[in-house]
Amino acid sequence: MAPGSYAARVAGPPPSRIFVPDLLRGQVCVVSGAGTGIGRATALELASLGATVVGCGRRPEPLEGMVAEVSGRGGKAEFEPMDIRDDEAVERLMDGVVERHGRIDLLVNNAGGQFLSPAEAISPKGFRTVIELNVQGTWQMTHAAATKAFIPQKQGKVVSITVSPHMGFPGMVHTGAARAAVENMMRTLSVEWARFGVRTVAVAVGQFDTETLRTKYPQEVVENVAGTVPLGRLGSEEEMAWLIAYLASPAGDFYSGCVITIDGARDNWFGEWPPGGAADEGGEPLAEERRERD
Ligand SMILES: NC(=O)c1ccc[n+]([C@@H]2O[C@H](COP(=O)([O-])OP(=O)(O)OC[C@H]3O[C@@H](n4cnc5c(N)ncnc54)[C@H](OP(=O)(O)O)[C@@H]3O)[C@@H](O)[C@H]2O)c1
Repeated sequence: MAPGSYAARVAGPPPSRIFVPDLLRGQVCVVSGAGTGIGRATALELASLGATVVGCGRRPEPLEGMVAEVSGRGGKAEFEPMDIRDDEAVERLMDGVVERHGRIDLLVNNAGGQFLSPAEAISPKGFRTVIELNVQGTWQMTHAAATKAFIPQKQGKVVSITVSPHMGFPGMVHTGAARAAVENMMRTLSVEWARFGVRTVAVAVGQFDTETLRTKYPQEVVENVAGTVPLGRLGSEEEMAWLIAYLASPAGDFYSGCVITIDGARDNWFGEWPPGGAADEGGEPLAEERRERD
């Protein structure tokens, strides 16, 4: 059946390529930044598995597009334009979800951002903006979902997107600091809120092939970034969406307080080694000569 054909449209939502249909039937999932990139792919995957998705972000147009796509496939999604840095807007969003749906099962803290800059050129305002979005915004969303839904219902999951590499992120000192804070936030809450049955996980993403990555960064970075990933390619939006759907499912019930890194081994690579890419004539990295032992 050709995708987009009449037959495809009337046949209902396309099944997930990975999971059984109805895996998340009945779940209510809030996804921030759900109109674009990883957030959009996540919203589509969760909805295709039967969840009701509530997407938020600042611009209504991309969110409208996501909702139209989910509805066109026979799934359930709605959206609310808002800024996660605005604590009153966050409260309104979570109040509205609980009022309409009676519960929240999953919060995906995907909304976030940063700008590439040498550390010395980042102003106090620029640094503050990145911290407010990624740390304060994530905290407000998590706290509101927990106090209004997860804690009263004694159940709930939070998946927060953070960043790989962990060992230092030149050109991104603000987001490196912010995402490290979020990872500790998830670890701490996993202990404090275990008594309410709340699971909190950080997913550290490496380089993913999203429109933002393709269009926002300098061309040299875009062209060479796959070469900084040991597996030699960028991640796909779907690969992230599948991981989040897995965590939302019963298979994810024992994950809490951990950081799952999904980056094609980027976190383990600290740059070109040996220095200068020294290699033998066949292109193999040089090895030292081993002396025979007596
Ligand atoms: N792609 C990668 O390689 C990569 C690497 C490391 C980390 N990440 C992180 O992964 C997440 C998704 O990235 P992506 O590549 O899919 O980029 P993206 O499409 O730019 O996603 C960011 C989303 O967050 C929303 N957002 C930004 N500020 C917001 C705010 N103040 N309030 C509410 N929503 C806000 C944006 O929508 P509006 O602009 O309409 O608000 C957008 O939908 C981000 O946190 C990003 O930093 C991505």
